[in-house]
Amino acid sequence: GHCVARHHGRVVFVRHSLPGERVRARITEGSPGDRFLRADAVAVLTASSDRVGPPCPVAGPGMCGGCDFQHVSLRRQRRLKGEVVAEQLSRLAGLEREVEVEPLDDEEGLRYRTRVEFAVSPEGTIGLRRHRSHDVLAVPGCPIAVPEVDEALAAAREDGVPEGIRAVDVVVPSGEADTVLVEVPADSPTPPIPLREEVAAPGGEVGMGVDARGFWQVHRAAPRAFVTAVLEAAGVRPGERVLDLYCGVGLFSLHLAAATGEGGQLLAVESDERAVGHLRENLAGQPGALVLPGRVDDLLGVPRKGRRRRGRPARSELLPPSADVVVLDPPRTGAGRGVIEALVPLRARRIVYVACDPAALARDTAHLLAGGYDLVSLRAFDAFPMTHHVECVAVLEPRGAVLG
Ligand SMILES: C[S@@+](CC[C@H](N)C(=O)[O-])C[C@H]1O[C@@H](n2cnc3c(N)ncnc32)[C@H](O)[C@@H]1O
Repeated sequence: GHCVARHHGRVVFVRHSLPGERVRARITEGSPGDRFLRADAVAVLTASSDRVGPPCPVAGPGMCGGCDFQHVSLRRQRRLKGEVVAEQLSRLAGLEREVEVEPLDDEEGLRYRTRVEFAVSPEGTIGLRRHRSHDVLAVPGCPIAVPEVDEALAAAREDGVPEGIRAVDVVVPSGEADTVLVEVPADSPTPPIPLREEVAAPGGEVGMGVDARGFWQVHRAAPRAFVTAVLEAAGVRPGERVLDLYCGVGLFSLHLAAATGEGGQLLAVESDERAVGHLRENLAGQPGALVLPGRVDDLLGVPRKGRRRRGRPARSELLPPSADVVVLDPPRTGAGRGVIEALVPLRARRIVYVACDPAALARDTAHLLAGGYDLVSLRAFDAFPMTHHVECVAVLEPRGAVLG
C-alpha cells in the first residue's frame, strides 16, 4: 500500500501516493540513522491519471488506517496488485508471469465487507484506528462494509459500551436474519458465539457453522468465488485422497469431501479449537471426511520455528504417506519451508495453494519448485478492494507430469 521513493539515497515508503507521482511527503516515522523512513503524501504536485477522490471521508494522511488505495481508481488498484504478485514471484521464486487480478461481484469496490472490528477507546469512543496508532477515530461508518455494519455501528454508539470492552465486532452472517454485535472484552476471551453462513457453491447452497470471531472470508462474494476456484483448481476425481490444510471451519473441505465421493477420503487439518468444533459439525454428513485437529507442522513432524527441541518431532500416524491432491490455505506468514518440504514426499498430483500474502506464496512456491513441482496456473482475486490485499489461488503439479 506504500510507494517507494528515495530521498538523498534513503528509502522512503510513502502512503497515499501512486507510482510516477510527484508529491510533498511528510515523514511520519523514522530517525536520521534509520535505513528507511515512512511518510504520508500531504500534497500532490504531479498527479497520476489514476488518482481519484477517495469515496471515504476519513481516508487520507493522519486518518483511518484501514484502507490504503481509496485514492486509486479500481482498475489501477487491480493492476497494482497484479504487479505486486508478479514481482514477488519473480524476485522470490524466479518465475516470470503477468498476473491479472479478477474482481469479485462488486462494481465499485465498496459495500462488500461482512465483518468489521471497531475499536473502543478508554473514553468509550467507538471507531477505527488511525494508521499505525492507538487513537480511535470516530468514523461516520465504513464505506467498504455492507450497510448493515454502519447501522450496527450507529446502534452501538447510541447504546454505548460497558467499561472493559476493547472492541465491537460487527458480523453480518449470510445465514442469519440479524446482524451480530460482539463486545470484545479487554482482558478475557470472548465466549463462543455460533453463527450460520450460507454458501451458494457449485453443488447448491450449503449452510455452515462458524464462530462470530472465527475465521471467515470477509468479502460477501468470496466464499462462493473461492470454493468455485479451489474446486476447479483441485479437479478432484471420485475415490481420491485429498488433504485440506489450514482448513478453518471447512469451507473448502465440505466441497472437496463431496467431490471425493464414495471410497474417497478427505483429511481436514485445523489448529483452532473453536474452528475444529464447527468443522466437525460441518463435515458430519460426509462419511469420507476425517478431521485432524492440530497444527499442520506438528502433524507433519516439522519442528516449530523458534522452539528449541532435541531431534525432529514425530510425524502423526494419522497422516497418510501419500495424497492425490493437497489444498492449503495458510495464514499470512505462509506454510514455510519445513511444511512444504514435508508435503513434497506425499507425491500429490496437484497442490492448490490459497494465499492472502503474495510474498509468502512466492517463498513457498520457491520451495515447491525446489521439490520438483511447477507452477501451472495462478489466479488472483480482488477480495479486498480499496486495500493493497489480494488473494491468490495457485496450482502446482510435479514437473513433467503427464496431464490426463
Ligand atoms: C486463511 S484461514 C483459511 C481457512 C479456510 N480455508 C477458509 O477459507 O475459511 C487459515 C486457517 O489456518 C488456521 N491455522 C493457522 N495456523 C495453523 C497451523 N499451524 N496449523 C493448522 N491450522 C492453522 C487458522 O486457525 C485459520 O482457520
